Amino acid sequence: MASATPTRREVALVTLLLVFLLLVSPPSRDTTKTGHDTIHNTSTTSGIPHALHDIASTQITWGPFSVPQTKVLAHVPGWTIFDKLYVFKGVVYIVTDEPSKTPNVTSMYSKGLFIENGKEAETSRLPTDEDIQVISTKQAKKLFGTGAQVMDGVSFLVNDPYQFVTHYYHWSAELWFGFWRTYSSLDPFITHDGNTSLPPVRRLVFNHLDAFHWRDYAAMNQWIIRSSFPSVVMEFKDDWRDRAEMGRPFVFDRVVVADRSAAMLAYNFARFQRTASTPFGLPGSVNWWMTIRNNAIQFTGLSPNTGWGTTTTPVITYISRQEWGRRMLIKEDHEKLVSELYKLRDLYGYEVNVVAAENMSRREQLELAARTTIMMGVHGNGLTSLIWMKPSPRSTVIEFFYPGGFAFDYEYTTRALGMVHYGFWGSQSFTSPGLPDPKYVEGFQGNSIPLDGEAVARLCHERLTLTSEVDD
Ligand SMILES: *[C@@H]1O[C@H](CO)[C@@H](O)[C@H](O)[C@H]1NC(C)=O
Ligand SMILES: *[C@@H]1O[C@H](CO)[C@@H](O)[C@H](O)[C@H]1NC(C)=O
Ligand SMILES: *[C@@H]1O[C@H](CO)[C@@H](O)[C@H](O)[C@H]1NC(C)=O
Ligand SMILES: *[C@@H]1O[C@H](CO)[C@@H](O)[C@H](O)[C@H]1NC(C)=O
Repeated sequence: MASATPTRREVALVTLLLVFLLLVSPPSRDTTKTGHDTIHNTSTTSGIPHALHDIASTQITWGPFSVPQTKVLAHVPGWTIFDKLYVFKGVVYIVTDEPSKTPNVTSMYSKGLFIENGKEAETSRLPTDEDIQVISTKQAKKLFGTGAQVMDGVSFLVNDPYQFVTHYYHWSAELWFGFWRTYSSLDPFITHDGNTSLPPVRRLVFNHLDAFHWRDYAAMNQWIIRSSFPSVVMEFKDDWRDRAEMGRPFVFDRVVVADRSAAMLAYNFARFQRTASTPFGLPGSVNWWMTIRNNAIQFTGLSPNTGWGTTTTPVITYISRQEWGRRMLIKEDHEKLVSELYKLRDLYGYEVNVVAAENMSRREQLELAARTTIMMGVHGNGLTSLIWMKPSPRSTVIEFFYPGGFAFDYEYTTRALGMVHYGFWGSQSFTSPGLPDPKYVEGFQGNSIPLDGEAVARLCHERLTLTSEVDD
């Protein structure tokens, strides 16, 4: 074999070549500030959006410059919007030279474990360096090298196991609700018809559950996703692992991170037991939800304005659970309620629907909810439909509890949409701010919940004539 020792001339040539390559290499897509705002003029390239053909956008390279820092755009416990959030070997990195200005990682991220009660379980969910780290630009450079692969557009990262995902209420009225409330805080000008300047979310990333564990028994979750954002794609824990095992850093252009365990540390969670309650501390439009609501309603073929205003014939919808086998009204009280509602129909011309969610197609459920002015029922998943109502001064949700029992689930959700909620204990009703403490009393889940149908009908009429305010 010939000697492998390079001559001085060869070394010099290689060095020159290297210097040449470094100097003329194409400009990086992104160095420090511009981020995904880098606009490529598309009118010169036959109108294809730049992200489709811009090969350089697969990665950002900072070369000899500083690693672009992570920016926290909005944060409340459990819900955070980041620009330039890094993920490397499965660990999330916040790159910043001002760590004191970054919220405590425990209020943003956790180990993504099942939620169990107790201090010990709570502590075991707290994140460690294996989950999330805050590092300086210097450390980032040492760790990441010269660049990162881009996950472009807006992503939604759900750092939760499937425990609270595979349920219509927890999906639509918590995860989706909280996500959109957080993200929509970036556009306080959303109109009543849902117009927004926000780009749609491009991908949902679930790093703790697989593709078989996000749908719910009523098959509503998939409907809501595909109608809210028809082109969104989903990644699961295998994809997260694939990316981790590639040993290259990835960077989210913009990502909304949800973490149930982190949200549970908040004061508002202690008050309402609702993870979606914490983002209501962020700015936002009163019409914030209409983007999602209208997308879902239009998907059924109805106009997004369905249910709007105070001059159309009111629609009363009683969602009955009387064949469900759990949490049902006393039979006679149910029958009395139905007959009282039909009396209203005959007397005032209101439309009255007595339905069971399990008897309706998904489309029928959405269509009816969209048209409904007053929705009522025993505490339960059927009331999740209230999120498809169109809020107006008449819109009301009436929820029946076993006397002494109360949960904030649908009360909070109703109020978060700007509608009015009443709870009933037999013939006694209550509304915010005069609410009882949450309590699951004996009988709460049972099948002999008492109710005064006459009192409910009276309240309906009051709400529809908007006389209740005049009364006191
Ligand atoms: C994009 O290109 C078109 C046509 O070449 C030009 O008229 C327009 O001013 C450019 N826009 C920007 C933002 O550079
Ligand atoms: C972050 O919060 C945890 C408790 O949730 C606390 O133990 C820790 O000291 C906090 N860290 C900082 C840097 O404040
Ligand atoms: C919302 O956008 C649609 C379509 O661009 C437009 O027709 C409508 O007038 C807009 N509504 C408002 C309130 O700006
Ligand atoms: C739901 O369907 C069952 C079976 O067909 C029927 O007995 C019941 O009356 C229906 N419930 C309602 C409220 O329509």
